[in-house]
Amino acid sequence: MDKEELTKILKKEFSSSPEEEPIRFFSAPGRINLIGEHVDYAGGIVLPAAIDVSIRIAIRKNRGSLFRIFSAESGEKVEAEIITYNSKSSWVNYVFGVIEEFRKLGMEPTPFDLVVWGNIPQGAGLSSSAAFEVAVAFAISEIHSWKIRREEIALLGQRAENRFVGVNCGIMDQFVISTAKEGFCIALDTETLRYEYHEMQLDGSEFYLIDSKVKHSLKDSAYNERRMEVESAFLKIKKGKPFLKNLYQANLEDLENETFGLNPIEKKRAKHVVTERLRTSKAIANLKEGNSEIVGEILFECHNSLSKDYEVSCEETDFIVEQLKKEGVLGARMVGGGFGGCVLILDKKGRKDILFEKIKTLYRKEFNNDPQLYTFRISDGVKEF
Ligand code: GLA
Repeated sequence: MDKEELTKILKKEFSSSPEEEPIRFFSAPGRINLIGEHVDYAGGIVLPAAIDVSIRIAIRKNRGSLFRIFSAESGEKVEAEIITYNSKSSWVNYVFGVIEEFRKLGMEPTPFDLVVWGNIPQGAGLSSSAAFEVAVAFAISEIHSWKIRREEIALLGQRAENRFVGVNCGIMDQFVISTAKEGFCIALDTETLRYEYHEMQLDGSEFYLIDSKVKHSLKDSAYNERRMEVESAFLKIKKGKPFLKNLYQANLEDLENETFGLNPIEKKRAKHVVTERLRTSKAIANLKEGNSEIVGEILFECHNSLSKDYEVSCEETDFIVEQLKKEGVLGARMVGGGFGGCVLILDKKGRKDILFEKIKTLYRKEFNNDPQLYTFRISDGVKEF
């Protein structure tokens, strides 16, 4: 939707006072992640990039006492003076959570009218929720001229998700959506929040996505459970190695060290985190060298680890990765939180359409459902448009 369409909807849904405030427009992208999955709450390095699907909002201060919010997708309208968790229209909690976090900083957002629309597939592992939080946080900061730094916007969005929405996510999604640059992925150290940009281009190769169409909801999934397992594994290792800052710094030997006493589940989860560290440093080096074959192999290894040790994949995404491997693509893996959603593929340029048709036929036969192909461009982070 463009400015004109959003304006039309906003004016139709919300009456305004005679001295109308200006309407402003913001958009926040979806994201993929090249490598470093499920390590952003264990102090790991992640390599995400923003893609050219987005959440768009139109926003105007309304001079009244109500926050008025309309979803152009579902047609639902929510009006509220007092902010409490809304279990009926759960999408609005992304806005409420952000307002609450501003309040905790002693910044009181003036009531506003807001229309939201988006084309980031939901529950597909492409971070539609983080995009919504970041778009709202950035917009609120801009319309009040608070000019909060992008890194702070990311942290505020994450707190909204953790505390209000109830998903104990890491910082990766909100961070990349806030700070992304066209053509680049970000190598973000989630322990220190230091980051650098890397060109995300491998000559002769291309990245694309296949959506399994199994929708995940991280709130109802085992996402929070995984985070707890990682934390308990870390606490056990830390007793013997107090200098460790996070689980990402542990070694494979630590997991087998009987004195630390990790249970079998903790060992598996920790194994994913530690081996992901090794895969990530190898991937960054090979990305710089333009070595797409090795980057591809690492993607397959990462998927295997997410599926077998971390257990956040599902039958459908495993099937897609398996079939793609048989077809000889360079690499493929589930992306994002997991439990469904998209598979990220790296392959030589020029054969994705034919390949996708094959996968689609096989997938339909197996699961009686149609997967979807998405191509994308690596784009900028949140912005006013
Ligand atoms: C979700 C979370 C992120 C991250 C990924 C897995 O997208 O929001 O913080 O943990 O899953 O890497």
